[in-house]
Amino acid sequence: MIPIAKPQIGEEEKKAVLKVMDSGMLAQGESVKEFEKAFAAYIGVKYAVAVNSGTAALHAALFGCKIGPGTEVVTTPFTFIASANSILYCNSTPTFSDINPISFNLDPAKIPSALTSKSRAIMPVHLYGSTCEMDAIMDTAKSKGLMVIEDACQSHGSDYEGKKAGSIGDAGCFSFYPTKNMTTSEGGMVTTNNEEIAERAKLLREHGSRERYKHEVLGYNYRMTNIAAAIGIEQLKKLDKFNSTRRKNADYYIKHITADWLVKPQESKNSKHVYHQYTLRSKNNRLTRDEIVQKIKAAGIGCEIYYPRLVYQQPSFSAIPSRKCPEAEKAAQEVFSIPIHASLSQADLEQVVKVINSL
Ligand SMILES: Cc1ncc(COP(=O)(O)O)c(C=O)c1O
Repeated sequence: MIPIAKPQIGEEEKKAVLKVMDSGMLAQGESVKEFEKAFAAYIGVKYAVAVNSGTAALHAALFGCKIGPGTEVVTTPFTFIASANSILYCNSTPTFSDINPISFNLDPAKIPSALTSKSRAIMPVHLYGSTCEMDAIMDTAKSKGLMVIEDACQSHGSDYEGKKAGSIGDAGCFSFYPTKNMTTSEGGMVTTNNEEIAERAKLLREHGSRERYKHEVLGYNYRMTNIAAAIGIEQLKKLDKFNSTRRKNADYYIKHITADWLVKPQESKNSKHVYHQYTLRSKNNRLTRDEIVQKIKAAGIGCEIYYPRLVYQQPSFSAIPSRKCPEAEKAAQEVFSIPIHASLSQADLEQVVKVINSL
């Protein structure tokens, strides 16, 4: 079986974890600080706040930006549920705007029509490893006085016009779940150049406490462990290499997948794709998308649909009224992703191409 995702954990990560274990300092401590410093430097921001998931990072960033009750945040419905759930955690309401069918990311031209007097922020999600059109999004945000919280949970190391994802808006959010371009097992990070946002994110992470046993606001335990941070420090050193392998794998698919009923992902001129996913669109009229996925899986190749159901189509969102997003609805019917991760061998790539081209 060629898995759809596989973390690359080397001797360096194992040694780093053992060192933390031997130190006895397992919870949030010096390794977390070191990881935050290294991650902030890599992304090109002043502050990074480590937390225990990408979801926690989104919640902490929104709290950092003072998104609260009675407000709305514009985002995409074509994303993992966590993007929109984090808005609900702040007692704010997600309002959905449609995607560009080529990039799968928010279409900046459609955002203004999703804005109301309650809108306080835009949450662009850099889906599959490709950044949103950030110039246009930042222009809209500036002209309407909105904050921008980038969900970069799938885009570690991608950039837009030379600026890394997570460094462009008011805050950026990352996930280090094992399927991501780098991992800490579970983990997340908020990145920002704004000291107040960083301080508020830390407050939410620590049960609302800056001073021991004094709790200023309702907070959570969103702390990252030193064990996770030790993995993250080593993974970060390898991230550029992982990403260039993903890009090489994508090049191979671009050259060798020849099926004419498939639409391949495209890298936009001003954004570097880091191929968290290699997502194809089926225009096949012989086989349904779900039949295609079944056939690929039956041939021993991991194949998944990200995402078969939009956020506003989820049962948990049934009470939240939403505008329809036709492009996102179409994408959810047509997309499927094939393995692109950095652990693939040449033989794996050849096998994937062979199976896809024979469908
Ligand atoms: C776009 C997006 N946002 C948020 C998250 C949440 O990250 P985590 O699973 O680390 O909480 C994910 C993770 O899958 C994601 O893909």
